[in-house]
Amino acid sequence: MRICNNWERANEKIFFLLLVAASTAQATPFASGNANHGKKLFAQYECDSCHKGKVGGDGSAIFTRPDRIVRSAGELIPRIKFCSGAVGAHLSAQEEQDLAAHLNQTYYHFK
Ligand code: HEC
Repeated sequence: MRICNNWERANEKIFFLLLVAASTAQATPFASGNANHGKKLFAQYECDSCHKGKVGGDGSAIFTRPDRIVRSAGELIPRIKFCSGAVGAHLSAQEEQDLAAHLNQTYYHFK
């Protein structure tokens, strides 16, 4: 009986931990990214240079246009890779996360 109780408690604990892990993962898709640093990188790599030409203004409308191409959190990093490749910028995985965190916080708001 004693063993049984302990086993149940352990299961409860694991279930609780999984629940916490799942909910935090959902709340912030780019939790390891630093949005402030991402904002700096965006300026440093002149990410808006082509976007301005395409949508006018400061270029940010590219992220909010109704027919935007990034529709889910999972599509953001691949697009960032594609764009940075176009200008020959070699982003580290951390820089990609930072840029994604910035763009998600400012425009996309994926949960
Ligand atoms: C060489 C030109 C160019 C540069 C530089 C560039 N982009 Fe882009 N980017 C584009 C074009 C063109 C599109 C739109 C593609 C389309 O509409 O099919 C785009 C679209 C995007 C989108 C998707 C917008 C949507 O529709 O949801 C993201 C995200 C993005 N760029 C991020 C970046 C980041 C981050 C950088 C800097 C590292 C960057 N881009 C630099 C050309 C560029």
